[in-house]
Amino acid sequence: MESSRANLISDLAATLSHVPSKFVRPLGERPNLEEVVNHGVEEEVVEKMMKVSREFFELPERERVKWYSEDPLKTTRLSTSFNVKTEKVGNWRDYLRLHCHPLQNYINEWPTNPASFKSHVAHYCTHMRALSLLLLGAISESLGLDADYINTVLGQHGQHMAINYYPPCPQPDLTYGLPAHADPNVVTLLLQDQVSGLQVLIDGKWVAVDPVPNSFTVNIGDQMQVISNDRYKSVLHRAVVNCSKERMSIPTFYCPSPDAVIGPAPQLVDHHHPPHYTDFTYTEYYHNFWNRGLSRQTCLDIFKA
Ligand code: OGA
Ligand code: NI
Repeated sequence: MESSRANLISDLAATLSHVPSKFVRPLGERPNLEEVVNHGVEEEVVEKMMKVSREFFELPERERVKWYSEDPLKTTRLSTSFNVKTEKVGNWRDYLRLHCHPLQNYINEWPTNPASFKSHVAHYCTHMRALSLLLLGAISESLGLDADYINTVLGQHGQHMAINYYPPCPQPDLTYGLPAHADPNVVTLLLQDQVSGLQVLIDGKWVAVDPVPNSFTVNIGDQMQVISNDRYKSVLHRAVVNCSKERMSIPTFYCPSPDAVIGPAPQLVDHHHPPHYTDFTYTEYYHNFWNRGLSRQTCLDIFKA
């Protein structure tokens, strides 16, 4: 049975005073420890999303592991770290991953416990979709493209969500919640609770993005970098953990359809701006992203023109 292999960090963390060796990064790869407001999404929707997510991770292990799977093709699943099948070092994170659009295709698979999970999460997803579409329109226009350009390129949109749970860690200087990576999708709207942990790389330095109440942090993903022919750059970011407080974050990943063909917008290519990437399907890209693991090196390399 799959659940017997579940090795969720949330169940281990409380019993540990040291970070097990499988989480320990080599020296030099360890953390050096030292937003959208007025978005129109009602505070209540956001609060209920965060509350029901916390309640899910507070359920007894026997309830939570019903959702556990290491199969990335499962559209609703609880897992741990990043890709437990390929990674050499673990990450101090459990996560529940949900596909959210079209809602009616997925909502029946979502957890039934807590009882209000489906309704609160569905409500939140609907708001996040509207906000993502607004954002894509604004970004298209900022590039001098038709407001609908990116929306159209994405084909049948995908919207996925992770509910990230980072337990307190006895030795946060040895490991990461999530190591440095750029998100693979187009844009990510990240909701954080009130505990710090997100950092972004700016001019070679890791800078904390501390939570601002009732706001979303927007991360540009790799697909936006390609579509904009490098006018927008995907942002390298990571999550660090701490020894006293659990932390939760809820990214909404807005994605192209798997068969969407992604490449620089023709309007952004001319003699002075040659295309920086060849066209590829989102499936081709994603396969590469998922199997190589999180890394500071971009996985766009193989698509460079
Ligand atoms: C992610 C991510 C950051 C955070 O899930 O892709 O970057 O603060 N999360 O949890
Ligand atoms: Ni990310």
